[in-house]
Amino acid sequence: MSALFEPITLRGLTIENRVWMSPMMQFAAEPTGPATGAATDWHFQHFAARAVGGVGLAMVEATSVTEDGRSSEYDLGLWNGVQADSHRRVIDFLHSQGTAAGIQLVHAGRKGSTGRPWSSGSHIEQQWQTVAPSSVAFGGMPAPAELTTARITQVIDAFATSAMHARDAGFDVLELHGAHGYLIHQFLSPVSNQRTDEYGGSRANRMRFATEVVDAVRTQWPEDRPLFFRVSATDWLSGDTDDPRPGWTSEDTVQLAAVLAARGVDLIDVSTGGIVPDAHIPVGPGYQTRFAAEIRRRTSLPTASVGLITDPAQAEAIVQSGEADAVFLARELLRDPYWAHRAARHLGEPLRYPPNYARAFSHRPVVAGR
Ligand SMILES: Cc1cc2nc3c(=O)[nH]c(=O)nc-3n(C[C@H](O)[C@H](O)[C@H](O)COP(=O)(O)O)c2cc1C
Repeated sequence: MSALFEPITLRGLTIENRVWMSPMMQFAAEPTGPATGAATDWHFQHFAARAVGGVGLAMVEATSVTEDGRSSEYDLGLWNGVQADSHRRVIDFLHSQGTAAGIQLVHAGRKGSTGRPWSSGSHIEQQWQTVAPSSVAFGGMPAPAELTTARITQVIDAFATSAMHARDAGFDVLELHGAHGYLIHQFLSPVSNQRTDEYGGSRANRMRFATEVVDAVRTQWPEDRPLFFRVSATDWLSGDTDDPRPGWTSEDTVQLAAVLAARGVDLIDVSTGGIVPDAHIPVGPGYQTRFAAEIRRRTSLPTASVGLITDPAQAEAIVQSGEADAVFLARELLRDPYWAHRAARHLGEPLRYPPNYARAFSHRPVVAGR
């Protein structure tokens, strides 16, 4: 049996294989009215197709815990029951196909208040004041307001409330988005965190927001359901590259992972970058996998690798060699929702197409009218 198609158990959840659908913002949520931030038919087809395509776990895109934490007005949100209910149909369908359902929670912080990426001009349609650890802008974006400690507490509480809604909606996995330059990452990195209170300065202080979010979420997220944390393992600045600017490093990430493991995080989903717009990133096949491998080797935690994993043999090698416990695929699954079946065929695994589609894949000759 291939390693890629071996089930994995995390807490009370067994996931059928290790081909996982990475969270991908669709900018397709309800933008206005009482269902603002709710999932739509677009989300249903987005997940239904990949569940039929055989992924073991499908992770719903970055979903904001507050209204001002959205990156755009078309983002999913999870601060009320209407939004939670909008996911039930998707979750039921995923389960009917043997696919586990995950959701990624985010607060965009200083990267909020943009538009759909394909909109024209400045792509800002409806602006609001963004917030962040410090009033330091990302690239050419407007400067965020510095969060007071009282507002930090409110944001942490919002993560817990969203976790409660995710629990009630029936999600199997919750992932905290601690990567790509969003709020949790903004606290971790010295690029964006210039605070002088207990949330800034030393690495331990910069990690405080992340750990408090984890603690708060764990009070609402059931003991038997796994909690993932997506990290940007490096800012690709000093410590990991020749760029002299101080940043969050791969060594910082190993220390963070050890702390998160002790607080109830079950898997680190390992990405990189996103805190500065101009880091030099050596992009290539599996370019982030070595960070997943290092975290896995140096902590007790399982990891998942993401980033330019497109080839079945490559994915199999990552899991088989123990560099990571699973792979997340993003763009390749947009190109081919049936990638998991293609990989299974390539690796000599039994095909598990739903019976409704079996005739397309059997070797019987096609007979007109049958
Ligand atoms: C359309 C699109 C939307 C994305 N949205 C998210 C997101 O909501 N959360 C996240 O953590 N990463 C997001 N990403 C990043 C992917 O999850 C993934 O980490 C990245 O695309 C690298 O993997 P790939 O080479 O398989 O595409 C997005 C990527 C794409 C292409």
